[in-house]
Amino acid sequence: MKNIAILCSGGDVSGMNPAIKHFVEYSLKKGLIPYLVYDGYEGLIDNNIKKATYNDVAGIMIRGGTVIGSARSKRFMQSEFRAQAKRNLDAHNIDMLVVLGGDGSFRGLHTFYKEHGIKFCGVPSTIDNDINGTDYCLGVDTALNIIKVAIDAVRDTAASFRRAFVIETMGRDCGYLALVSHLTSGSELCLIPELPYNLQDYKEEFQKQIKNGRRYFLAIVSEGIKQDAQEIAEWFENEVGIESRVSVLGHIQRGGNPSIYDRLMAYKFVNYAIDGLLGEHDESVICYTKQGFVYRAIDEVAGHIKPLDPELISYLS
Ligand code: F6P
Repeated sequence: MKNIAILCSGGDVSGMNPAIKHFVEYSLKKGLIPYLVYDGYEGLIDNNIKKATYNDVAGIMIRGGTVIGSARSKRFMQSEFRAQAKRNLDAHNIDMLVVLGGDGSFRGLHTFYKEHGIKFCGVPSTIDNDINGTDYCLGVDTALNIIKVAIDAVRDTAASFRRAFVIETMGRDCGYLALVSHLTSGSELCLIPELPYNLQDYKEEFQKQIKNGRRYFLAIVSEGIKQDAQEIAEWFENEVGIESRVSVLGHIQRGGNPSIYDRLMAYKFVNYAIDGLLGEHDESVICYTKQGFVYRAIDEVAGHIKPLDPELISYLS
């Protein structure tokens, strides 16, 4: 029997728990012994590694976040702690790892493989959808659905009060969440880090719309733009001439009941990850593309800025 472990690293996403559940079930089906590593790379270093049973993952499908915890480990960047992690894995006879995480997590893993030969498969997991080489990252669909509900709710109060609402989404330096939310909510303005903007370009048009009877504006802005949401709201108030409010969605975007799409993608990502490790893919990231699932080398994935889909961007102009 071979032993295999799973861990989560970096920001949690909805979809991690379905992935963990399927990891345990599919490993057992494949004749492997599954292990859970708690609190990301910190758990590897501190030997927080436990053999998993069906009971450990029962009922977790519907829960956001991750029941095994996640962390952004600084210690794992140091070779002495990676050596400690390797000793812990050896003690459990584990030489294969499935890691749910992002760019930074995969880079650490690659170094670990080169030093100690622990095989791995990364599963792209971040609501930002900014990992190079994959069109989809686990958690994005659930986050978009949460943002949708929030925007629809804010619209109700914006319309009732004749107000402009500036709604800030997460995404770090990537405007994907804001842009897709804008296109699918029919908001009036979208600002993302990838596109330079000048608010004054919108002033005349917005004032004209108010004169013609528009009661409210919704502006979806990504957290990575040059101004903060409050400044945009002040521009609406002072320049366009409409009362305004800010709504920063924050971490509610990361949690919540995983969507059907994320549950299904978790299932598929994990299947491919385990199959890859049992096959010929010793150090890869499983990516989802228009051609289907592909195993990519770390160098193709980590350390690159993923360009936002030009087709989506073109809809803004
Ligand atoms: O990378 C995911 C993400 O949610 C970003 O969108 C956001 O900028 C960041 O993590 C927030 O990090 P933290 O949870 O550490 O505040």
